[in-house]
Formats: sequence, C-alpha cells, structure tokens
Amino acid sequence: MTGGSVVEVSDLVKAFGPASNRLVAVDGVSVRIEPGSAVALTGPSGSGKSTLLHLIGAIEHADSGSVLVDGSEVTTLNRRGLAAYRRSVGFVFQRYHLLPALTAEDNVAAPLLPFRVDFDKRARARELLEVVGIGDRCTALPSQLSGGQQQRVAIARALVGGPRLLLADEPTGNLDSARTEEIIDLLLKLRDERGMTVVIATHERDVAARCDRVVHLQDGQIQ
Ligand SMILES: Nc1ncnc2c1ncn2[C@@H]1O[C@H](COP(=O)(O)OP(=O)(O)OP(=O)(O)O)[C@@H](O)[C@H]1O
Ligand SMILES: [Mg+2]
Repeated sequence: MTGGSVVEVSDLVKAFGPASNRLVAVDGVSVRIEPGSAVALTGPSGSGKSTLLHLIGAIEHADSGSVLVDGSEVTTLNRRGLAAYRRSVGFVFQRYHLLPALTAEDNVAAPLLPFRVDFDKRARARELLEVVGIGDRCTALPSQLSGGQQQRVAIARALVGGPRLLLADEPTGNLDSARTEEIIDLLLKLRDERGMTVVIATHERDVAARCDRVVHLQDGQIQ
C-alpha cells in the first residue's frame, strides 16, 4: 500500500436520455480530492452523487470533461486500461452486492479469482475479514450475517486489490445508527491505516460530518 490517490475532476458532464428529454445528471463538476482524504458527497436524491462516483470509478462513461486519477486520464481508457483501472479501485454499495451462494471468505476472494497471484487468495481474504472485524465469520453465507456484517464483508472485498481509492455509495443507507457509526469508524480507520483516499456518497449529515470535507451537489452541480 502506497498511500491514497489524488483525484482531479474537471468540467465533468454526464447526461441521460434522448436529446428531446435530456437529463443532465452531472453538470460541469470540477473538484480536486486530496490523497488520503475522506470526502463526503452529499445532496438530495437525484442530485448526481452516484453518477459522479460512477464516473470517477469509470463504471459509467462521461460525455465530456476529465477525471485524472494520480495524473492519468480515466475517461478515455481503452478496454484493457478500463479493466485494470476498475480493478485498482475499491467499491462499496448500499446493498452490499454479495454473492449469496458464496461464503464470506469466497466473496472477498472472488475479485482475485481470474488472476494468478503469488499468495494464497483464501488466506488473504481471511486476513481482510479479520481487519474488518469479522474474522470469526469467514465461512458464513451472506444470509447468515446481519446487514452490518454483510457490509463488512463487502468492504473487505473492496480492499482485496489493495486500492488507493475507495468509492462508497450510501454504504450505511440500509443500517441503523449504531451500525452506521461502526461502518464509518471502520472506513476512517482503514483510511488512517492505509492512507487510502475515501469518497462517500451519503444522505446522512452525521456521516458527512465525520469526513474531512463535504462536497454538496444540487442538480448535478457543486454548490
Ligand atoms: N442510468 C440512468 N438512466 C437515466 N437516468 C439516470 C440514470 N442514472 C441516473 N439517472 C438520473 O440522473 C440523476 C442523478 O442520479 P444519481 O443516481 O446520480 O443521483 P443521487 O444523488 O445518487 O440520488 P440518490 O440520493 O437517490 O441515490 C437522476 O435524475 C437520475 O434519475
Ligand atoms: Mg445515489
């Protein structure tokens, strides 16, 4: 682990729908996210938080503008570059997106499966489950875990590629306030220990208040 990514977004635009009914989800956003910082993306429903995260993670293709991550442009990557870039970024979602038939450790190891690595994938997964505080539930299925525990598995999975950038979309959206606090504690602890840059889209004021900086979106624009 070599610290966090710097993210430089310039004049970023993403619209959906036909020209006759064009919806500009991200409307000329420019923002610089410092390495190792924890940034909250806030704003009302539909303000463009998820879309901006997807553009930074190159899950979605921008219409125009630039996203530089550690100085490299991600909006114009070719297929192979995209695959490598997406693999280097950690994603955490509101609904965990765990594979129901796989144990916790297999879910964490899953992103590594297509690749040849010089370490034991399962052992690495178990280490990460230890790091996120559920080392004792390695062989549990997602259905046997609470929401907070499932989100911990998802966070461990996001860490498995050693990301310098972690993007979390409403990571506490399905959790009660105690579990929310624990998951934010965990994300900030990981940031402190690994120096990762963490971007968290959230509706929740309490979550935003824990971050170093709040970027507020309204109608696809930074306020
Ligand atoms: N794939 C899509 N096709 C069409 N419109 C979309 C698509 N994705 C997002 N949008 C629209 O873009 C706008 C921004 O959506 P986005 O999901 O980024 O908002 P958000 O801030 O994450 O909202 P929420 O807080 O509800 O998650 C919304 O008006 C949404 O309907
Ligand atoms: Mg969203």
